[in-house]
Amino acid sequence: METIHSLKEMQVRALALKKQGKTIAFVPTMGYLHEGHLSLLREGRKRGDVLVLSIFVNPTQFGPGEDLDAYPRDLDRDSALASEAGTDLLFFPTSEQIYPAGYATSVDVEGLTDTLCGASRPGHFRGVTTVVAKLFGIVQPDLALFGSKDFQQLAVIRRMTEDLNLPVEIVGMPIVREEGGLAMSSRNVNLSAAERSQALCLVGAIAQASNAYGEGERRAEVLIALARQRIEQEPDARIDYLQICNDSTLADVELADNQSVMLLSVRVGKTRLIDNHYLSRPQRDIPFCRFKINTWLSCSG
Ligand code: PAF
Repeated sequence: METIHSLKEMQVRALALKKQGKTIAFVPTMGYLHEGHLSLLREGRKRGDVLVLSIFVNPTQFGPGEDLDAYPRDLDRDSALASEAGTDLLFFPTSEQIYPAGYATSVDVEGLTDTLCGASRPGHFRGVTTVVAKLFGIVQPDLALFGSKDFQQLAVIRRMTEDLNLPVEIVGMPIVREEGGLAMSSRNVNLSAAERSQALCLVGAIAQASNAYGEGERRAEVLIALARQRIEQEPDARIDYLQICNDSTLADVELADNQSVMLLSVRVGKTRLIDNHYLSRPQRDIPFCRFKINTWLSCSG
């Protein structure tokens, strides 16, 4: 694996690879890689001739008072993991290269970004779509892989790619979970042992709602109340949002169906965590048996 620091060099290399007819698979990240990122890299390895990983903690997607400075970073560890997962090129630019003086253009996706994380983090998605569009211009990927834990981010990036006619296939990959069910996130490292155990309320809330859905309950308000009860059992958990939305419009639904996704963001102590689940889909990757509910769902753990 080769590490490229220069934006220009990355772009020149990508254009040369394209000329040779190579397919570029791209995994954009903010680093501090975990098993979720590695699943994207492994899939990218299978699908592309050349696998490019970017690591860039993008300042424009963090609001004032958010955790930009506290965001975990460890390039040596990331490089070792990336290389093991088959990455060919690791692109690691500086902020000054991505946002040079005089830079004045942003990408805004309207509508989809007004709700959920967009409502509680104004400007966040403008930062995400702008940097992803820039990275697509630099890395010239044929396909780009994103995790579906960030469900709204994936929907927004798909919209942007389609609306701007960018020639990139967007591949969404399943959520990877820790034992116990917590969705993998670089931010999990900031949880204390007690907070980590409280953080299981996110998947617990999903389990409550999924279980009720499996027993025939369709009223979103009832499903949300059940999920809320689970989260409120934890002293350090504060709900940012807890909604059941249509998977393509992200609009709230009154009655859940097989297009409905429960999306939630919960602060546990100072750490903001997100998760989501299609209520109609039993997911073998969630070890529901921990929650001692009458489960119609299969239990992996
Ligand atoms: O999901 C992330 O890690 C980031 O939002 C992304 C897509 C790399 C853009 O900075």
